[in-house]
Amino acid sequence: MSFGGLRAVDGCTFDVAAGSITGLIGPNGAGKTTLFSIIAGFLKPTAGRVLLDGQDVTGQPSHRLFHRGLVRTFQIPHEFNGLTSLENLMTVPAGQDGERLFKAWFAPAAVAAREAEVMAEADETLAFLGLDPVRNELAGNLSGGQKKLLELGRAMMSGASVVLLDEPGAGINPTLLGQLAEMIQRLNRERGITFCIIEHNMDMIARLCDPVIVMAAGSVLTSGAMADIRKDPRVLEAYLGTAAAGDAA
Ligand SMILES: Nc1ncnc2c1ncn2[C@@H]1O[C@H](COP(=O)(O)OP(=O)(O)O)[C@@H](O)[C@H]1O
Ligand SMILES: [Mg+2]
Repeated sequence: MSFGGLRAVDGCTFDVAAGSITGLIGPNGAGKTTLFSIIAGFLKPTAGRVLLDGQDVTGQPSHRLFHRGLVRTFQIPHEFNGLTSLENLMTVPAGQDGERLFKAWFAPAAVAAREAEVMAEADETLAFLGLDPVRNELAGNLSGGQKKLLELGRAMMSGASVVLLDEPGAGINPTLLGQLAEMIQRLNRERGITFCIIEHNMDMIARLCDPVIVMAAGSVLTSGAMADIRKDPRVLEAYLGTAAAGDAA
């Protein structure tokens, strides 16, 4: 992926095994977020391929990938702050306004039945995440950690089978971080959801992820179990190298 003269992601190849919780780490500017944008269909790569279940999905728009079960979670959009936790979850499966309007006219009973079904699923999701106490609270009033859990809930409601998380631990307190890690583990174990997680909190990566892929300067530096990565001098060097460059700048 080139931005003008800059190759943000360059010759970067790796697999995320189905059913894994794969970690993606590396110093700032390594190209991790850009790579997620490419995989999730928000950026078209200059060259290269993305395969999902062995099928080439390179350049497919995010909404199409969403329907194929690949989602990248984001912060709850601003306009959703005025909706309750429950409503935030209930808006996920909708997405087909034309069809909904049509059905509302011609099949109101079917629409009501579907809505009850979606509400039941949303309530189940809130219970799973321990968010039932804030079911009717506006999303804008939730704590940072609760918002992260709600984001995870939106991914669950989408029926995703592959979830990309970009720094889920950023800005949340240790208690909620532990809770978030536990939810990710349970979703992986109980529902078979595959995760790829970018995270700077190495404790969280060590606790959750196997394998861990290390990116530096746009490509894969190394990958493997966190215990081995930790001992790899090249990894330390990559982090120190950019820290030194940052100091000099
Ligand atoms: N839209 C963009 N236009 C130009 N340069 C970009 C853009 N997005 C990212 N970059 C650059 O690409 C490199 C990788 O950035 P990024 O993917 O955000 O790294 P990371 O997430 O690993 O910190 C950085 O040098 C960054 O400045
Ligand atoms: Mg980033």
